[in-house]
Amino acid sequence: MASSSLLQLCLIFVVFGSAVAQLSENYYAKSCPQVKSIIEDEIRQTLKKEPGMGGSLLHLHFSDCGIGGCDGSILLDDTPNKSGEKSSFINANSTWGYEVIDRIKARLEKTCPGVVSCADILASAARDSVVTLGGPAWPLPLGRRDSTEPHKMLTDALGFLFNAKLPALIMAFKQKGYTTEEFVALIGSHTIGRARCLTFRKHIYDDKNIDPAFAKAMQAHCPKVGNNSERIPIDSTTPYVFDNAYFKNLLKQKGLLGIDQELYTGKGGITDAIVANYSSNQDNFFKQYVTAITKFGQTGVLTGTKGEIRTNCRKVNAPKF
Ligand SMILES: *[C@@H]1O[C@H](CO)[C@@H](O)[C@H](O)[C@H]1NC(C)=O
Ligand SMILES: *[C@@H]1O[C@H](CO)[C@@H](O)[C@H](O)[C@H]1NC(C)=O
Ligand SMILES: *[C@@H]1O[C@H](CO)[C@@H](O)[C@H](O)[C@H]1NC(C)=O
Ligand SMILES: *[C@@H]1O[C@H](CO)[C@@H](O)[C@H](O)[C@H]1NC(C)=O
Repeated sequence: MASSSLLQLCLIFVVFGSAVAQLSENYYAKSCPQVKSIIEDEIRQTLKKEPGMGGSLLHLHFSDCGIGGCDGSILLDDTPNKSGEKSSFINANSTWGYEVIDRIKARLEKTCPGVVSCADILASAARDSVVTLGGPAWPLPLGRRDSTEPHKMLTDALGFLFNAKLPALIMAFKQKGYTTEEFVALIGSHTIGRARCLTFRKHIYDDKNIDPAFAKAMQAHCPKVGNNSERIPIDSTTPYVFDNAYFKNLLKQKGLLGIDQELYTGKGGITDAIVANYSSNQDNFFKQYVTAITKFGQTGVLTGTKGEIRTNCRKVNAPKF
């Protein structure tokens, strides 16, 4: 079942690389010094009107990096000859924000044509969204280049991971060099995320590990049948603030998705102590988050002469003759 959970997207990363290459914080200092201010401005304006877009852009960054690396491949539209990642089973109806990236790209193409990659725009938009919504900033070296192909087959092949359980996910992240603390912090992205009814219906109707009043309140948005694509904030307390309320909610059995509540069982579960820690120590959550997402945002990047700088994030450049 297609899902809108960040967690389920970052688990895809399990399968794909973690090369950290030669990116640099000053990458566009000469070629496009306005890059930072333009992206920040567009994100601030967008979130002022639609704060939920922050979670969508963060999710998009996860989806991009998780499949084949942070190379802007998720942004490619289907063509008559080649279908892309965004229409695939795991991303269809669960990724949003493409038009925000288009707006930023259009402004940058006016200011410094052909210079700033879509992959860098997406990584920056995710970071600026978190900061705008009150979360921590992290170091964001730039210089990612854009893929010339979607990772379509890989995307399709990963559908099976959707039902992975917590221990398997933790193990998979461990193999990529992430501690359990970092893994749980990354899932804390859900503090600004939204999920569609169809992804948590089972949890709010059938599961026992949920606060009954909370379940009832959520059932009012998500009937047993219908409203499948209605998006509900995962953090019901402060939906558009990047804070540790997501973890506090888990202590009260107010996790929206089944997998959220799995992070805290109250019975000595493997990540219970970490959730409890983050719920009372936001600084530690932020610290672990910054470490983890700084690494994650450099997953499998293309640098040097690999890939290209797309002029339209939705299409690969026309061949030059
Ligand atoms: C797509 O396929 C058609 C028919 O096979 C072909 O004529 C066309 O050149 C292809 N387009 C691209 C962009 O490859
Ligand atoms: C996406 O949503 C549309 C409209 O609700 C639906 O027809 C389609 O089957 C959905 N696609 C996927 C892959 O869930
Ligand atoms: C669908 O969701 C909306 C928004 O949460 C809600 O107002 C509406 O009552 C829901 N529809 C049903 C049939 O529950
Ligand atoms: C949370 O974990 C950090 C790092 O291990 C530790 O320094 C801190 O005392 C813990 N705080 C709480 C409230 O458990």
